[in-house]
Amino acid sequence: MSDERDSDGERDHAEWARAVMTGYDGVAEAYDADRRTADEVPFVESVVDGLASDARVLDAGCGGGRAVLETLADEYETVGLDLSAEQLALASERAPAARLVRGDLTRLPVGDDAVDALTALHSVIHVPRERHEDVFAEFARVLRPGGRLLLTTGVGDWEGENDDWLDSGAAMQWSFHGRERSLELLSEAGFAVEDEAVVGDELGGGEWLFVSARFEAGES
Ligand SMILES: C[S@@+](CC[C@H](N)C(=O)[O-])C[C@H]1O[C@@H](n2cnc3c(N)ncnc32)[C@H](O)[C@@H]1O
Repeated sequence: MSDERDSDGERDHAEWARAVMTGYDGVAEAYDADRRTADEVPFVESVVDGLASDARVLDAGCGGGRAVLETLADEYETVGLDLSAEQLALASERAPAARLVRGDLTRLPVGDDAVDALTALHSVIHVPRERHEDVFAEFARVLRPGGRLLLTTGVGDWEGENDDWLDSGAAMQWSFHGRERSLELLSEAGFAVEDEAVVGDELGGGEWLFVSARFEAGES
């Protein structure tokens, strides 16, 4: 993990993102083979509950298209965004109806107020945590007022790396705040949390926090 920091205490995001991208290019097949989503699909369905069929959904850090694109792409106008070309290649096979773009969570190539719902499952946890505020600000920018967010993050705070994740030979790194700080940052970005759940991690043990929220800023 790159731990060199600038005068503001921030790590070089481009260098960090390159490492995550290279890691996911290498681990894509192994991750896809191990990924289980049965516990997550109900959350994905609830984020679009009541939305019109022309609703626009952005899956930020879509990976190979589980669990969001495979569930929603045939019914809604979905865009999957990811750093990793290998992950996007898997997503294009799994969810051919989705539009796919390379991009970074800290600089979404999406217009203001452009989406009705945004999902980010197990992706923000790969951004250095001092940049999570920037990611949530991007989510707030692209969501229309009243738009919905489904996000996963850590229950407790943690940073770490694995030099051979899932025995793929690829290295990976993670960085996240604990529940209280994440909810505080979401609130500061204009999100009202509507639901929370802790779900077990089928890949590495441990648990993840699923947060459902609504973007409130701008509403009268
Ligand atoms: C653990 S995978 C999860 C993929 C998918 N959301 C799922 O639930 O299966 C995390 C994904 O986030 C992507 N990712 C990590 N950091 C990112 C960033 N800064 N910008 C865009 N995508 C990122 C990775 O490339 C990877 O495909």
